[in-house]
Parts: sequence; structure tokens; C-alpha cells
Amino acid sequence: MFIGIDLGTSAVKLLLMGDEGQILKTCSREYPLYFPQSGWSEQNPKDWVEQSLEGIKDLLADYPDARVDGIGVGGQMHGLVILDENDQVIRPAILWNDGRTGEETDYLNTVIGREKLTDYTGNIAFAGFTAPKLLWLYNHEKESFDRISRIMLPKDYLVYCLTGAHVTDFSDASGMLLLDVEHKCWSKEMLDICHIREAMMPQLKESFEVVGSVKEEIKNLLGVRGEMKVVAGAGDNAAAAIGTGAVGAGRCNLSLGTSGTIFITADHYSKGDGSSLHNFANADGKYHLMGCMLSAASCNKWWMDTILQDTDYNANQAEIGELGLNHVFFQPYLMGERSPHNDPAARAMFIGMSMDTTRADMTQAVLEGVAFGLRDSFENAKKLGISIESASICGGGAKSPLWRKIVANVLGIPIHTVENDEGPSLGGAILAAVGCGKFDSLKAACEEVVREKEVTLPDPQLTKRYNERYAEFVKLYPMTKGFFR
Ligand code: XUL
Repeated sequence: MFIGIDLGTSAVKLLLMGDEGQILKTCSREYPLYFPQSGWSEQNPKDWVEQSLEGIKDLLADYPDARVDGIGVGGQMHGLVILDENDQVIRPAILWNDGRTGEETDYLNTVIGREKLTDYTGNIAFAGFTAPKLLWLYNHEKESFDRISRIMLPKDYLVYCLTGAHVTDFSDASGMLLLDVEHKCWSKEMLDICHIREAMMPQLKESFEVVGSVKEEIKNLLGVRGEMKVVAGAGDNAAAAIGTGAVGAGRCNLSLGTSGTIFITADHYSKGDGSSLHNFANADGKYHLMGCMLSAASCNKWWMDTILQDTDYNANQAEIGELGLNHVFFQPYLMGERSPHNDPAARAMFIGMSMDTTRADMTQAVLEGVAFGLRDSFENAKKLGISIESASICGGGAKSPLWRKIVANVLGIPIHTVENDEGPSLGGAILAAVGCGKFDSLKAACEEVVREKEVTLPDPQLTKRYNERYAEFVKLYPMTKGFFR
């Protein structure tokens, strides 16, 4: 058997895959997310490990004789985890959607300069990336900075605790802004700019490479048999693309999780153009482009849980009437925005309400606002000459047929779901199975394991209406930019 782990922002999701690639069980365990100041976002790395181990126990409770051959982890990207020389976590992890590094990001993009950054790493700086976080720590928490012995990403901390191997994979490493993505090595220039040494950095591996085995004491604690080899794993979006079968050049996967992403695979490295799309290595040894919104399904969760205090998402969406006629817009920047605006100070907004506006109109605006945000990155990909004919979709938000319909019509392309929509955890299990030699390649594994479920086709009339609405949506951010600074 193989275990896939998705180390997410709200919870860790785990999946048990049988010898034939069948999904035997899934489970998830939550942990807290802390917002110590507006726009800051932190988690305790120990919570990730504790809940992942509990999750493995849950997963195997019905399979006492299971032999676990391999584990693969897909994880939330860009988070900064730092350990001291005694392997103790120095401070809470600063996450991918944390916006405290506005000044450091501006310094990198303007003083070092976008052109140099793109030469060194293939990318420009965004507030959530790891390098600006290191600079922030250097500027604001020098005592913590001076104690750093090891630097790692969230899923790499879990792998480190499981195996003792200080490693990362190329897809996740790309999001640190410390990797020379084209040459797949750490950028000496970027390490110097961030005042760190290569010895602090994890060793670089391909996602499907075996990096060690789970320590004996942990296996005993879990009561698990089997070698439990651990592969390097991948950033959650790269793992999700594998889990939805978006493998091979020119494929596209959308994710409606806490973040919203558009992930486009490529066979070759192409130099970043400084646009909002990230230019990263992929888990299959090749490359991908990605646009990332910081708040996607989390907008609807905020609207439902915090504002409406209503747990029945389906009933709330059932009140929504005909699509494309809504007068209300929602700008989905609850945590600032990465793609396309690169603006940690941006904030969310409802606009266009009148006395006859209903709660359903506002719910609809939230779902549409997120879809329009995805379209921003979709348009940027088109500007690079990339044509996307269809996409797969995964993440919590993708469970809603209505939201899928809105996305299909806002983008004007067919959207596919797969039978197991737990993208990153399935991707993690597939990486483990490939690493352990169960399949010859990721492509062969996906053909065997990933099954398409449903296609949502765009309706030309509705797409036309949404084109008109989108043309209005894009005017909103420039009008309010700077207002919340
Ligand atoms: C991608 C990104 C998010 C996180 C969420 O660049 O920041 O998708 O990986 O888990």
C-alpha cells in the first residue's frame, strides 16, 4: 500500500492507495491557523507532524495487517520553517498567504530588480515567497535569524521528522525564490542577497526520488509494517496536477482550495517574463506555469462561516437564481492578492448592492469573484501565447456543481472532475508508488489510477454574459488600489 499526504493550510488530508492503485480510505485532521496581525498567517509545524501521525493511525485503523511500501507528501508551498542547531523549530512557520513582507518584496523587485531576479531564479518576488520572508526575519527578528541552522518548506519539515533527511523537491523549491529554476540548483546570488549559506538549505531531489524510510521508532509508534520509504514529494499544486491526471505538456489543472490556482504544464523551461505567472519546475522533472490567488474557497468559507454563520453550503447555493445577471461584484482579496496584482495591501470588497440585493446575490458574487480572479491568470497565460482548451479541477470548492459551472463559463472552457477529487494526496501516493517502482512513470501511473468523473461544458450564451461582467470586474482593482494601504 501507499500513503499520500496533503499537508494543507486548514488540515492535513491523507489517502491510502492499494496495490492496484485503488483508493481504500481517506481521512483528514485539522490544525489551527493563526493571524497574529492583519495580513499575517502562521502555523505551528509541530501541529502538522502530530496531526499527520494521528491521520496515518486513522487511515490504517481498518487495515491492521497493512504493509506500507511508500509515502509521498504534497504540501502548502512557500512557508518558512527554520530550525536551530538542536533541531528545534525557532518560531512559528510564516505561511504562503502571509503579507508582512511588502517592503522586502519591493526591495527585491526594485532595488535588486526584476530583471536580475528573473535571471537568477526565473521569477520575480511575491510577498508570499520564501526569500522575502528570510529578509523580513533578518530585518525584524535578527535573534531568530542568527539561530538558523536549517531552512525548509512545510512538507519538508514533515519528511525531516519522519526520516531525518533534510531534502526538498524542485517543484516546491521553485517557490522559495532561492532556486535557479532553469539549472535546478540553489542560486548563489539569491542566497547571498538573503544572507544565508547553502549548508542551511535542503538537498534538492526529484519529487519521485526516495529520500529515506520512516524511522523505526515512528513505525513502532504507529504499529505499521512495511518499509515505508518516503519520496521527496511536491508542492501541493504540482501534486494536485498529478492527482487529477494533468501530466504531460500543455495540460491545465485548476484548484479551488484555500488558494485558487491555475497550473499549466510545459515540457521546456521558458524564461519568466516578469508577469504574474510563476515559472516553476514540475514534479515530473519538467516545468510549469502557475497563477495563484491567495483566497479562493476560503472566500466562501469566510462568507458562510464567519459572516452568515451558516453551515449548509448547498442550501445557500440552491437559492441562487439565473447566472450572469448579478449586479453585485465581490473582489476576493481577503489576504491581499498574489496573481495578478502582487499586492499584499489589497483587500476584499462587495460593490453594487441595492435595496433589492439578496443574500443569494452576495453568495453568487463571492463564487463569481473567485472565478474572475482565476480568469485574470488565464488571460495572462493567453498573452504568453498559451491556449488552454480544457482543464481539470480539484479542491474543496470544486465539489460544488454550481461553482464548477460558473468557472467553466467564466473561462469559457470545459472543466473535468476526477473520481477522487483529493488532488494533492492522490498525487503524493502516486509519487510514492512511482518512487517505489510500482509504475514505470507518472504518466503510466495516472493512466492506471486517475479516472475522469464528469465534464461541465460552457454555455455560449452564459459565457458571453460573463465576458461582459469580467470586463467590468477588471476595472475594480485599479480604482481601489492603494485605498487600503
Ligand atoms: C501556490 C500557493 C498556494 C499554496 C497553498 O503558489 O501559494 O497554492 O501552496 O497550499
